[in-house]
Amino acid sequence: MLKAVYPGSFDPVTNGHLDIIERCAGFVDELVVAVLDNPSKSSLFTADERVEHIKKETAHLPNVSVRSFHGLLVDFCRLEKARLVIRGLRAVTDFEYEFKMALANRKLDKDIETIFVSSSANYMFVSSSSIKEIAMFGGCVEDMVPENVKNCLYEKFKNREENIHGFNN
Ligand code: PNS
Repeated sequence: MLKAVYPGSFDPVTNGHLDIIERCAGFVDELVVAVLDNPSKSSLFTADERVEHIKKETAHLPNVSVRSFHGLLVDFCRLEKARLVIRGLRAVTDFEYEFKMALANRKLDKDIETIFVSSSANYMFVSSSSIKEIAMFGGCVEDMVPENVKNCLYEKFKNREENIHGFNN
């Protein structure tokens, strides 16, 4: 049985992440989406909120589960008895960071392998950080995140000073 972990901050989950989840769920037996819960890293959404967003969008995929984790990814993988880590690659610029992380994880546990899945062309420019910035200034994030996440983003930023343009979407 092939079980894989797809880890990330997912703050928030994007349509690019969801595309990778759908595609990977098609070739592994079980996929655990692992949401990093790191209290020292500031995030817009709590870990529970991020887990809920992903659960909602993956409810139709019976072999996908969503959990939060803290500490080392390799420890989470051991706990889950998964030896495969999946990471998405959008562009060459992602490569150095991803390659270093894969090497660090292999150093920590040589039995855990990382594979990279290329992003679909539609989502090459989509990142959680750019989405937060666009939403913060009242820009349109349609087609970049699911409807529910879009509404949660606008809700978070509704009363913030940075929202200088208001929301028309
Ligand atoms: O979506 P992100 O922020 O690029 O995901 C990064 C993540 C969560 C995969 C990475 O930060 C991680 O695995 N953190 C857990 C701590 C860890 O295991 N560090 C050692 C590898 S560098």
